[in-house]
Amino acid sequence: MKKVVVTREVFDETIEYLSQRFDVTSNQDDRKLSDRELALMLTDAIGVQTASSDRVDQRFLDLCPRAKIIANTAVGYNNIDIPECTKRGVMVTNTPGVLDDSVADFAVGLMIAASRRMGEGERFVREGRWESVYLKQMLGKDVCGATLGLLGFGRIGKVIAQRVAGFNMKVLYHTRNKAPESVEAELRATYVSKEELLRTSDFVVLILPYSKETHHYIGETELGLMKGSSILVNVARGGIVDDDALIKALRDGKIFAAGLDVFEGEPKLKDEFSTLNNVVLTPHIGSASETTRKAMAMTAAMNLSVALYEGNPPPNILNPEVLSA
Ligand code: GLV
Repeated sequence: MKKVVVTREVFDETIEYLSQRFDVTSNQDDRKLSDRELALMLTDAIGVQTASSDRVDQRFLDLCPRAKIIANTAVGYNNIDIPECTKRGVMVTNTPGVLDDSVADFAVGLMIAASRRMGEGERFVREGRWESVYLKQMLGKDVCGATLGLLGFGRIGKVIAQRVAGFNMKVLYHTRNKAPESVEAELRATYVSKEELLRTSDFVVLILPYSKETHHYIGETELGLMKGSSILVNVARGGIVDDDALIKALRDGKIFAAGLDVFEGEPKLKDEFSTLNNVVLTPHIGSASETTRKAMAMTAAMNLSVALYEGNPPPNILNPEVLSA
């Protein structure tokens, strides 16, 4: 049987599925592995199921020289050096589609939590500081009827646009490629420049991939264009936002609030975030409903199975050029 390695804990059903097809070595205790342990585990692996916390670079690939496929358990793949994989003839797959609904739900949740000060309110009650109910207590901003600006308009961005129709929001979007008019009409979304979106939106939601081109896509200049009453939500990747610039903008009241599920250098984040009341912080759990995380793990396992057990092109291949090489 071919050896496959699963680097982080997955669900029992995923292991069961893989074990019917492969000799599986899995880090089911979810331990932080030493370099030596990782090297031992990866030796002879023909396929590896990775997590977004794994850095699949030259060093990692050197540890599994026989690997034919890296199946990432995430839709994002900025943790993987795809050109290096391609050079070595290693297929790379991701898990698109199965998490769109959960991440869209979560983005809307962060919009409401940040604009209606839910994190701050929760801390206030929990700390026993609540003494009376009064008219001007913790005034926030309405989501209903507001203008949403989506930076990124892929599958998840489009689902967010669908969701907020129920809040009667006006939807603007900016992305590299304008969507077809039929899609814009269906989602009642209007394409605008990045600058116009930042200047006019009440909510700016980041749902675009992280790459060299989108590093610090939102920095001091962009935050300076946003309205003082606006809210920034990031459910995409850390690094798209310059966190130092964001902390300053939140501290100086340049924007009203932020809802953040991702951070530069996560899981460590800048200490100042925890001192600010106008930011809701969550630990990269945008896709973390039980159903969705199970579907992601199974999608990654299925990519391994199609590639290595059936010997066919895996459905979610990101570097199809290795197939013809
Ligand atoms: C989660 O962040 C993913 O990319 O799937």
